[in-house]
Amino acid sequence: MPAIAWSNEFSVGVEALDTQHRRLFDVVNELDEAIEKLRGQRVTTGVLRELVGYTQEHFAFEEQLMAEAGYPDLPAHQAQHRAIIQKIERFEYELNGEGYRISREVRDFLQQWLMTHIARDDMAFAGALAPGKVKA
Ligand SMILES: [Fe+2]
Repeated sequence: MPAIAWSNEFSVGVEALDTQHRRLFDVVNELDEAIEKLRGQRVTTGVLRELVGYTQEHFAFEEQLMAEAGYPDLPAHQAQHRAIIQKIERFEYELNGEGYRISREVRDFLQQWLMTHIARDDMAFAGALAPGKVKA
């Protein structure tokens, strides 16, 4: 899959979340660039580290909002967050162990996950937030 482009279909209507989601698109695209331009394992692993770090920050923010809003699907959403973090960390481990072979699969998977998660799960959550509850 080529680089993924942000568009309005991914807007959940909460500015702070949209800004963070855009940043996630950017980091996933940095991963794409590292792979396509053959930047090497060290750079690619570095981008994956950045992705884990930023994703964890973003998830913590989102889960905080959900907790404050009393969002009933918080446990299920949180479980999805935990699972993807574990998956990215697993990819990082495999990248270190097996070299470059898996990186396109990883990128395709992450692109797909990010777009689906925002368009379906984050959208559902943001839709459940009371208007004006989140300061952007
Ligand atoms: Fe989420």
